[in-house]
Amino acid sequence: MIGATLSRWTLSYFASAVAFLLAAEALMVLGFGYPGSALRSPETLVLVHCVAIGWLSLLMCGALFQFVPVLVAKPIHSNTLPLPALLLILTGLGALIAGFLQLAGYLPPNASVFMAASVLLGAGFLLVLWNLGRTLAAAWPLNLPARFVTIGLASVAATVTFGVLFTLGFAGEAQGPFLLELRARGLPLHFIAGLGGWLTFTAIGVSHRLLAMFMLSPELEGASTRWTFYLGTLALAIVVIGGVVAIAVGGRLDVVLLGAGLVGLACLALYARDVVQLYRKRVRPVIELNSRMAGVALGQLAAAALLTSAAAALGVVDRFGGALVFLVAFGWLSGLGLAKLYKIIAFVTWLECYGPVLGKTPTPRVQDLVVEPRARRWFWLYFAAVDAATLCLALEATLIFRVAAAAMLLATAAIALEFIRTRRLSNVKAALRLPTGTRLPRLLFTFVAS
Ligand code: HEM
Repeated sequence: MIGATLSRWTLSYFASAVAFLLAAEALMVLGFGYPGSALRSPETLVLVHCVAIGWLSLLMCGALFQFVPVLVAKPIHSNTLPLPALLLILTGLGALIAGFLQLAGYLPPNASVFMAASVLLGAGFLLVLWNLGRTLAAAWPLNLPARFVTIGLASVAATVTFGVLFTLGFAGEAQGPFLLELRARGLPLHFIAGLGGWLTFTAIGVSHRLLAMFMLSPELEGASTRWTFYLGTLALAIVVIGGVVAIAVGGRLDVVLLGAGLVGLACLALYARDVVQLYRKRVRPVIELNSRMAGVALGQLAAAALLTSAAAALGVVDRFGGALVFLVAFGWLSGLGLAKLYKIIAFVTWLECYGPVLGKTPTPRVQDLVVEPRARRWFWLYFAAVDAATLCLALEATLIFRVAAAAMLLATAAIALEFIRTRRLSNVKAALRLPTGTRLPRLLFTFVAS
């Protein structure tokens, strides 16, 4: 990654994302949204989109602006566009939340708020797609990790399209018979494309490169990785295209989703095989905290896949759906996100601050920017709290759930503090901190030579 252009606004994405995660956890401690109110209630919609757009999507966008150029060894199409995209997504999410709060009766009704949310969120994600799409197009033909990202971007396009449709529906638009049917039955397509395609499939693609890079393992491009890609793409195509067709012709959506689920399970099984290979074949004997905690997050994904399969076989997916989505969002996606942020922030800060003077003066190693023993206990508390919270949701223990959410909030706040310390070089010995020719990095953006 040495020599890669640093993404100017990635840290602003990361900071906004972590702020939304902390806000969502605080809402859960206060009993706002599920399980305090119904799964389909407006309060739950606020919570879901603070997590899905505010935390996970902004985290993914920020990471892709930095890593797509590394994946394809080409510079980002524009290092400026990410800022207006961020501002559009943040104001759009603000409008969407205000719209949901209207539905809940906390704010006076005003349909134009939903209209604004559709336009702003649509425009923001379109700018993200344009910038990353142009960067990938310039590197055609694409290597395997980049192809995973491409399908992930197609999935967020589908997710946002459904989302805009639902939002326009709340604004009193999108009233045609097919659109009404899509609004009535399309919700599973929306969140499977979002959680499964955009967030999970992209993470699978990027993790092949990141795990190999940070553990010094040989990168996998063999048959199992190729088939992970083909099967995952097929499962997502069945959900989005098969789902829309089934709704259009009045067909059985449950059959389509079952088919996609079985193909998706085969995809995850091959991915699990690859992950075991990556950990086994690593050159770096001692696994760093970020890779160890990524391993825990991968374990959460495996548990979620097995529990979902068991729930489907027993016909109780509806009953445990909330707990299963929670485990995917907070155990797998958020766990992996926090673990990788711990390394990425240190790496980007080291590159930005010491890159220009490498070999000219003594500089710290990347590892000197973090204190793993201090962070490790907060990561364990985080995962233990998530699993306890998941169990509480399955057992409908609402009050204990809030206690578990409080432990998640405490752990996340402590991990966020670690990120700030790393960025401020607080863990680096004074003698090595700012040698001549270096300067203290800014918290929210990266100095990049234009
Ligand atoms: C990664 C991105 C996203 C994910 C994972 C996601 C996930 C979800 C989930 C799980 C629900 C159902 C919540 C419940 O039943 O309580 C939902 C509903 C909804 N989403 Fe999203 N969403 C995403 C992006 C968006 C975007 C960008 C928009 C708007 C442009 C949006 C608008 C909506 C609306 C309006 C509903 C309510 C639909 C209804 O109840 O009829 N979502 N979303």
